[in-house]
Amino acid sequence: MNLSNLAEKFYDIYGYKGKKFFFSPSRINLIGEHIDYNGGYVLPCAIELGTYGCVQKRDDNLIRLASGNFDLRVETDINDLRYEAKHGWGNYPKGVIHFMKESGYGVSGMDILVWGNIPNGAGLSSSASLELLIAEMINNLFNDGQISKLELVKHCQKAENDFIGVKCGIMDQFAVAMGKANKAILLDCNSLDSKYISMNLKDYKLIIMNTNKRRELNSSKYNERRSECEEALDILKKYKDINNLCQITVEEYEKIEKYIDKKEIANRAHHVIYENQRVGEACKFLEGGHVSKLGQVFVESHNSLRDLYEVTGIELDTLVESALEHGECIGARMTGAGFGGCAIALVKNTAVDDFMNKVGDKYKRKVGKEADFYLTDIGDGIREIDAII
Ligand code: GLA
Repeated sequence: MNLSNLAEKFYDIYGYKGKKFFFSPSRINLIGEHIDYNGGYVLPCAIELGTYGCVQKRDDNLIRLASGNFDLRVETDINDLRYEAKHGWGNYPKGVIHFMKESGYGVSGMDILVWGNIPNGAGLSSSASLELLIAEMINNLFNDGQISKLELVKHCQKAENDFIGVKCGIMDQFAVAMGKANKAILLDCNSLDSKYISMNLKDYKLIIMNTNKRRELNSSKYNERRSECEEALDILKKYKDINNLCQITVEEYEKIEKYIDKKEIANRAHHVIYENQRVGEACKFLEGGHVSKLGQVFVESHNSLRDLYEVTGIELDTLVESALEHGECIGARMTGAGFGGCAIALVKNTAVDDFMNKVGDKYKRKVGKEADFYLTDIGDGIREIDAII
């Protein structure tokens, strides 16, 4: 599908031409996994894969939703926006429209067609991509583009937390909205301060590797990990005046870890606190162009997510191990929530094809599934696109 197909499909479905087009990226996270909801630092980037959308205002209160990826179409009145299981993917747009309307922003009926070129369930945040696409449509069509990106981010996170029921942190929505070409975003999830860091990867390429094991965030252990972190925080609060786990340094944690009785809970806290420190190291290495050191930190992060946070699984572990066995790969790790989905690898420019062939073969032999590889640019955040159709 491309933009002109999208326009044609809009015409086929709704019987008139849609004139406004938008693109909302998806994201990868370089490092800082499962610490956004613990007030830590994360280092995501928006990528040039994502969700396209075409929209037209209506002069009534009807919301009509259609997708190039799913057959399911949804029609609903703007005054009746409730989560309905039968509305499947349509609940994401419904949630965003609901909370933006509830906050008093302008919004009325719309005909919307979306189409994404990221496999959904790949852990690249197709849901945040769809949410921000809708939020930006509302901003542009009804509010003269006056709503700040951070406001859009917060409404989309709220839709995911309180409409869909996944207690995600703010990283995905932030990265999708604020992404910048060839930059990673260093985001402090406690203060929401952020800065851009150039992707100085010298002669290495970042390859995204899809396990093709679907990551179902809803049914996964994501919310369980969140509450385990809260359990650790409740204990550690007795020893330091803190609001989140990432306010503890590694040195401090080493002294108080012993107060957490349950091994599993101590492991979760250990991952969070050390991962936060690793983000700082990774930034230093990225800024200085020390790519092989960056690769080593990726590996430490993956090992911790595998052994302490327990969010990897056979597919992600096999793919990362197979990547690391390739002589020209200097680092690899899962990215996103885990439990399937994608990993990233740093691979010498000249070895990319060989890497994809060999790692793909190995993965297939061991896991019995095909892996997919994406070589995509680090791109800008949500935006309107001019379509000359
Ligand atoms: C998902 C969530 C994010 C973040 C990551 C793990 O992508 O949506 O908020 O917690 O998992 O780092």
